[in-house]
Amino acid sequence: MELQETVAALFTLPKGILAMDGSPTTLGKRLAARGIEATEEQRRRYRELLITTPDLHRFISGAIFHEETLRQTLSDGTPFAQAARQRRLLVGLKVDQGLGPSPFHPKEEITRGLGGLRERLRAAKDRWGIRFAKWRGVYRIDRTEGLPTLDDIRIDSFELAQYARVCVEEGVVPIVEPEVLMEGTHSIEESARVHRMVWREVLAQLHQHAVPPEQVVLKASMVVAGSEYEGGPASSEEVAVQTLSALYDTVPDSLGGIAFLSGGQSPEYATANLDAMVRRGPHPWPLSFSFARALHQPVLERWGGNDAFWNEAQEVFLHRAHMAALARLGRYTPACEQNPQAAPCRI
Ligand code: 13P
Repeated sequence: MELQETVAALFTLPKGILAMDGSPTTLGKRLAARGIEATEEQRRRYRELLITTPDLHRFISGAIFHEETLRQTLSDGTPFAQAARQRRLLVGLKVDQGLGPSPFHPKEEITRGLGGLRERLRAAKDRWGIRFAKWRGVYRIDRTEGLPTLDDIRIDSFELAQYARVCVEEGVVPIVEPEVLMEGTHSIEESARVHRMVWREVLAQLHQHAVPPEQVVLKASMVVAGSEYEGGPASSEEVAVQTLSALYDTVPDSLGGIAFLSGGQSPEYATANLDAMVRRGPHPWPLSFSFARALHQPVLERWGGNDAFWNEAQEVFLHRAHMAALARLGRYTPACEQNPQAAPCRI
């Protein structure tokens, strides 16, 4: 019961899940790209900016932390997990340990992190009250290289299911994230073909591991054309049709919910795509967002490491969360970007 309550809380309308679990390396690169020193202290400050944004709970139900964040505190000494809970956010933890080389193909990577997983989950639940976790598998599309390989899909799906099994046994909701990368020259049809293969295998493995689908959140990539596809990006309508049709073909109605990642899409595109999917509903599962870049890339640009822009950066962040929440309601329009307080855009 506890698990389904957590799922329901994560999908409370119109809120979504904030991904702020970028590893020191990934977040470090994003900071450095904006001319911000990639130190642990700058990562801490940036995360503080996000989590202390006033009114965040109106649009965000939970935040996914990197384990580094669990060890960090706000400037006033409050541990991050406590600060999130005080702000009515559920706390989640990324528990995979990143990517390592694959035995199947030199250009493929396998997610690591099953070692000690149960103990890590237990410790984080007891000490920090985490209610959900996240594990990300990654699949690269490259037809000339034959990627993703079937072996990679099988291994990553098997690991996702093992992780999910341990989570439900420990009373923690698993966010299962098989990300099919947008990077590449592939068409949207090719992306749909790979998504179907991946989702089918992940769901089959979850079934084999007796993981109840209603206790699982699928963190899905959207079916989009590759970022270097010669025909350019597909319309939001087409993204919605392709993504939904692949989901309806592969995912049971009983799944707890689906939260999309943004995967390098612009904030406006990711938001419009979610909105187009919601508008085609009702669907058997709640559709939501669990964006990282599409929520906080503009925030990083505004802040730039300069606290003179702290409040403005938080306003940019709340605006992005507001737009994504509108998409959850199927009420997002580009006009809301300019005039978020107009009646049709207010929540
Ligand atoms: P993006 O929205 O930037 O893809 O990040 C989501 C995420 O959590 C990746 O693991």
